Amino acid sequence: MEQNELLKQMLLPDGDSSHSLSVAFAARSGSGKSTLLTRLVMDARKMEEFKETRFIYVSIKQESYFDAPAVSDIDSMWKQLEKQPIVNFFPPDPEFYEVDIDEIIESLFKYHDRSEGGYVLILDDINIVKGFDSRGQPSPSVKKLAVAGRSMGIRGVFITHRIANLPRIMNGNTSALIMMSVSSMDIDYGKKIFGQDFTDLIPELTDYRWAYVDLINEKTYQFNPVAR
Ligand SMILES: Nc1ncnc2c1ncn2[C@@H]1O[C@H](COP(=O)(O)OP(=O)(O)OP(=O)(O)O)[C@@H](O)[C@H]1O
Ligand SMILES: [Mg+2]
Repeated sequence: MEQNELLKQMLLPDGDSSHSLSVAFAARSGSGKSTLLTRLVMDARKMEEFKETRFIYVSIKQESYFDAPAVSDIDSMWKQLEKQPIVNFFPPDPEFYEVDIDEIIESLFKYHDRSEGGYVLILDDINIVKGFDSRGQPSPSVKKLAVAGRSMGIRGVFITHRIANLPRIMNGNTSALIMMSVSSMDIDYGKKIFGQDFTDLIPELTDYRWAYVDLINEKTYQFNPVAR
């Protein structure tokens, strides 16, 4: 698949295409997820189709490779988005991670028509948040993002350490899975959650190599590491 086509399928919040559901990144700690995501967003930003798209990067670890201002409340987030297409959101207090994420989602649903190009809400290290495991129930707002974001031009990007961290609700509401090095235990979860067999793929994903799994057409594309 051509790179621009891939970026549109993966990130464009255009509601119309069968691929504009949420996407999930799954890979071990330190395997290059945040680096890859940042590169893909920067490449997408160069495309005409993404000219009006706004990106909100929520980093629970309070770090980001995006050269963009960091905010920690909703008002500042919207102020930044009026000026700039990318904002880093650093939730300040572990006690309120879930609340902060829910508020961002609710606010996007309320004001989604402010950007013609739609919104991409990236939730990095979401595995830290309650409800992110195959048994857990994510919050009603997170469910809403996964289920109803598409028709509002809001695209959720969930970044987690393991396929096992993705709640069952993602099955049927995720159009692609981006995988880097994951635990071989995730073979089971790939089957349970997405009905996909990753037995042959997982050993290939070493040294920052990655794969794009199109869950709509059930096709897998493998890639060499991105340049940092
Ligand atoms: N494509 C790449 N080529 C070379 N080195 C890379 C690449 N991607 C990441 N790295 C190296 O790996 C380190 C970890 O990358 P990154 O922070 O993206 O991983 P991560 O999966 O997001 O980690 P964490 O789970 O801790 O958030 C980076 O500091 C960088 O040194
Ligand atoms: Mg990271």
